[in-house]
Amino acid sequence: MKIVPVSLGDRSYRILIGDSLLPRLGPECARLKLGRRCAVITDSNVGPLYAESALNSLRGAGFDPILITLPSGEPAKHLRHVQACYDQLAVQRLERRSFVVALGGGVVGDLAGFVAATYLRGIAFVQVPTSLLAQVDSSVGGKVGVNLKAGKNLVGAFHQPRLVLCDLDTLGTLPERELRAGLAEVIKYGIIHDAPFFRRLERDLQKLLALDAKTLAAVVARCCRIKAEVVAQDEREGGLRAILNFGHTIGHAIEAISGYGKYLHGEAISIGQVAAAELSAALKGLPPRDVNRIRASFEQAGLPVSIRLNPPQRERLLAAMKLDKKVSGGEVRFVLAEAIGRVVWGQPVPADLIARVLEA
Ligand code: NAD
Ligand code: GLY
Repeated sequence: MKIVPVSLGDRSYRILIGDSLLPRLGPECARLKLGRRCAVITDSNVGPLYAESALNSLRGAGFDPILITLPSGEPAKHLRHVQACYDQLAVQRLERRSFVVALGGGVVGDLAGFVAATYLRGIAFVQVPTSLLAQVDSSVGGKVGVNLKAGKNLVGAFHQPRLVLCDLDTLGTLPERELRAGLAEVIKYGIIHDAPFFRRLERDLQKLLALDAKTLAAVVARCCRIKAEVVAQDEREGGLRAILNFGHTIGHAIEAISGYGKYLHGEAISIGQVAAAELSAALKGLPPRDVNRIRASFEQAGLPVSIRLNPPQRERLLAAMKLDKKVSGGEVRFVLAEAIGRVVWGQPVPADLIARVLEA
């Protein structure tokens, strides 16, 4: 098992990464000295596969869990499901010392984390991410929240988990399209922070798609280490943490204008990262060779790298970008790459250049 610490003073926690970890959920929670009652929040795909094992482990360690099952997929990341969770927690009398376990992908993690951040003004929560995307990104760092029709993640909080438990075995049941979507965040870490890691991915993507155990463990741990390092320096996104949003401004807008669900998050940010690389070439001198390497990596992962938009759709996309949380004084701010492994954040980009890149 690999252990990655997230150092945030009294909000510090550990990320556990390895095979067959789900049965350790109960004993690991017991180490945290949490209350006896807890709610496992999962979705309708993950629940039938892993909830029993999670509940048994919790019961075996002396906890008294309830199970809440949400519908699966991005449209479920909605306030009406938050409300439904609150109601169940209240009916079941969960108290201040009770805790929430998020068992699932990023949708479950973001929503369950938001429920934990707000129920009784905040109770503890534990992340058990079961998708690649959630293991390398969304379960770490404490950003929790839900979507509004107007835009992604527009309602949320910072609420750090007390533990992240990544059981790599769960990836064995993840649909291939979802695995590929997770690779979009994996490749992102290479672009924003780690050129040797990017080179390794150029070599090892097929091994990852084949779920090669050694490669998977090393890659998930490297991604978590990078994220933990960034979050430890800038928990609330005063500056540096923005680099984690490379490709997300366009990606989130694609998700919003296509009604959440047509493009998976990973697919939308794959298109967004290739567009951001092209903007970087125009504004920051990213060499064309590196733009091509970036595009080729996403293609090799089987992800979309462009989007066909008619003029009204392009207008809607540009308008949706203005609702991004990174907008400052009405101006959309981008993360741009100077080289693979080195990015700058808070960069203004003229709207006509964005439109031109999307047209191309
Ligand atoms: P998801 O939660 O929808 O999971 C993907 C799909 O795979 C779902 O249908 C789910 O039921 C299924 N699934 C998950 N694990 C499975 C398993 N082991 N076996 C079988 N099926 C499984 O999506 P995701 O890609 O995990 O996460 C995307 C979400 O994460 C987006 O809402 C995005 O905004 C959010 N996100 C948040 C952060 C953050 O820092 N909080 C970072 C990145 C992304
Ligand atoms: N995925 C963006 C962040 O965690 O800050």
